[in-house]
Amino acid sequence: MKLTVKIKDQIKQIQLNKGDNLLKILHSNGIFINAYCGGKGICKKCIVRFLENTPEPLKIEKEALADKIEEGYRLACLHNIEKDATVEIEALKPIFSDFLANVCCDDDKTHIAIDIGTTTIAAAMVENKKITNSISLLNPQIAFGGDVISRIASSNEGNFNTLSSILKDSINDIISSLKKPSSMVICANPTMLSFFLGLNPKSIGEYPYTPPFKGSLTTQFSDIDIYIPPVIGAFVGSDITSALSLLPENEDFLFIDIGTNCEFILKIKDNYFSSSVPAGPALEGTNIDYGSIAQNGAIYKVSFENGIKVYTINNKKPTGITGSGLISVIALLRKFGIIDKTGRLVEPWEAEAPFSIINRIKGKGFLLTDDIYLTQNSIRNFQLVKASLNAGLELLLKKIGQKLPNKIFIGGGFSKSLSRDEIINSGLLSFEGEFVMLQNSSLAGGLRLFCLKEREKVERLSKKIKYIEIANEADFERLYIKKMDF
Ligand code: FES
Repeated sequence: MKLTVKIKDQIKQIQLNKGDNLLKILHSNGIFINAYCGGKGICKKCIVRFLENTPEPLKIEKEALADKIEEGYRLACLHNIEKDATVEIEALKPIFSDFLANVCCDDDKTHIAIDIGTTTIAAAMVENKKITNSISLLNPQIAFGGDVISRIASSNEGNFNTLSSILKDSINDIISSLKKPSSMVICANPTMLSFFLGLNPKSIGEYPYTPPFKGSLTTQFSDIDIYIPPVIGAFVGSDITSALSLLPENEDFLFIDIGTNCEFILKIKDNYFSSSVPAGPALEGTNIDYGSIAQNGAIYKVSFENGIKVYTINNKKPTGITGSGLISVIALLRKFGIIDKTGRLVEPWEAEAPFSIINRIKGKGFLLTDDIYLTQNSIRNFQLVKASLNAGLELLLKKIGQKLPNKIFIGGGFSKSLSRDEIINSGLLSFEGEFVMLQNSSLAGGLRLFCLKEREKVERLSKKIKYIEIANEADFERLYIKKMDF
C-alpha cells in the first residue's frame, strides 16, 4: 500500500502495510508533526488533511475540528490506513522573534545561545556584543511525548537514536537559519542535554534518578566550540544554572523556572537549595485546547474594558492561546466569578457579572474571540501546573525549615507580559512577594556566558547548590491535591 505525503511543495511516497497507524508511519519516516500526547488522542494537535480516501470522522474529531472536518482534516494518531491515501501536513518551522536581554561577551565575534526546552527550542545570536537575531521552533521530539519522562520511556523502547538525531538536526537547522558562530552556549534540562550529546538518559527516569553527567562541559558540536553550564541533578540542568548569571548575590530570593517541569532555586544567606517538580506543558500553550506557542496571532493577554478584549502577538488575527494568555484569562474569570473555587466554569444563570461576559459562556467553554474558547479542559490543565508548583514550594520550605524570601524571580517564556495581579488572581502562585519577571531566563542567562567573569560566577554558585528531592515524597501528593482548588 502507498501513502502520499504533501509538505509544502514537496511530495513524499511511503510504502506501508494495511492497518498501519498514520502518526506512527509519519514519524518513522522522519516526518514530524505536533503530537504532544504521544498519540493517545488527548492533545488534538496531530492535525493532517486527507486529500484522497478520507476516513470517516470520529466523534472526538467532529468536536475538535468542527467545520474543518468537511475539508478533510483529521487527527493522525486516530487513523489506521486501510486504503492508499494522500495527506497534506504542515512541517514544523522556525519562527523569528524579538528577544531582549543583557549580553555579556568578551569579544566581538558571532556567538549563539540556545535554550533546548522540552517543548520549545529558542536561540539568540550575538554579534559585536549585541543580539542581532533570535529564533524559536517546536522541539521535534514532541512527536514522542510531551514531557521528559515520556521521552525517556520512548528512548527506552528503542527510539534513542531517533530522538537524539532529530534534536541535533534541529540545532543544525537553527545554526543554518542564523550564521555559523565561533561558539555556542547550550542551556537545557539534563534529559535534553543527554539526547543532544548522544548520551542515554535512562538513569534520569529511574531511581535514584541520576543524570549521565554532572558539572559543566566544554566540547564541540558541528565544529563549533560549545559550553554547557553545570548540571546539578537529574532535573536541574544548565537551563537553571545559566539563570544564576541573572540573579543577585547580595539578597535572598526564590527563583522559579516554570516550564514543562518547574524548578526552584532558593537562596538563603550563603545557602542555595534547588528542587524540581513536574508541571505539564499547559503554560507552553501545548496541552490546552486552542493552545499555541508564542507566534503571530497567539493570544497573550485578556482584559475587560467595557467588554472582553484579547491581545494577540503582533496584533494579528487570533490563532490560539499562549501560556500567558491562559493565565491572564483565568485571572480575569476568577475575578468575575466565572470560574469557581474548584475550577469549574459556572453556568450563565449562576454568574453575577456584566452581561457582556455572561453571554460568552457557551457549551464549549468561555468564548474569547471568533472560534477560540477557554475550555474546562484547559482550566483543569492549568490547575495541574498551579497545584504542582505551590505544593512543591510549600514542601521545599518545610523540608529545609525556612521562610519564603520577599524577592521572587519568575522565569519562563510565558512570563513576559504578565502582571503581578494576574499571577495572584489566577492562583498560579498562592503567596505574596515582590515578583520580578525574567521571561526565558535560561536563554537570557546563556547570553551572559560568552564572558569569563559570568562563567566563573555560575560555576562558583552552582557548587553551593544542594538538591532537595520533593516530587517523590508522600506529602507532595497530599499537598498537590489540596492545591488544586483556587
Ligand atoms: S491527539 Fe494525536 S498525538 Fe495527541
